[in-house]
Amino acid sequence: METEERTLQLPQKRYYRQRAHSNPIADHSVEYPPSPNDMDWSPLYPELKDPTCEKKVEFVDVGCGYGGLLVTLSPMFPSTLILGLEIRVKVSDYVIDRVAALRSQNKGQYENIACIRTNAMKYLPNYFRKAQVRRCFANCILNSQYENIACIRTNAMKYLPNYFRKAQAL
Ligand SMILES: C[S@@+](CC[C@H](N)C(=O)[O-])C[C@H]1O[C@@H](n2cnc3c(N)ncnc32)[C@H](O)[C@@H]1O
Repeated sequence: METEERTLQLPQKRYYRQRAHSNPIADHSVEYPPSPNDMDWSPLYPELKDPTCEKKVEFVDVGCGYGGLLVTLSPMFPSTLILGLEIRVKVSDYVIDRVAALRSQNKGQYENIACIRTNAMKYLPNYFRKAQVRRCFANCILNSQYENIACIRTNAMKYLPNYFRKAQAL
């Protein structure tokens, strides 16, 4: 008998609810790389399992919440690796499970998005090299440490296509 690969179901938000705020100054038990050179991205993006692939994460959604923007961006920029950072553990778990389910239901798609639980205010420089990140979507929780990052106020979920062409070279 043939064994069928089980398709993962999309997670239900009600099982991943958490208080709206998590203190970014508090000491959370977060695993983070000592420096960008120590970060192994291959478990997050299937493409990077090939050791000859030199792609890097170029878009970052800081405070990605339940991952709506990641999911919107994924088909718009299919060849760009996009990362969501989220401090709340249950919320980041939701995004991780959501991406796994989307990948399993749509073969070959959503492989360019991933999420990690971290405190972006403390550890952002541990993940990314200088000039690595081309676009950073943030809820303005950051003091920009990078000169190539700018911020505009918009509802990205609604208006993102108004700013960028599909797969625009930025
Ligand atoms: C206003 S919500 C926005 C969620 C999402 N970007 C959206 O537009 O629906 C801000 C999110 O940032 C997360 N957050 C706040 N401080 C953070 C930090 N220091 N590092 C990572 N995530 C953080 C919160 O847990 C929350 O989910």
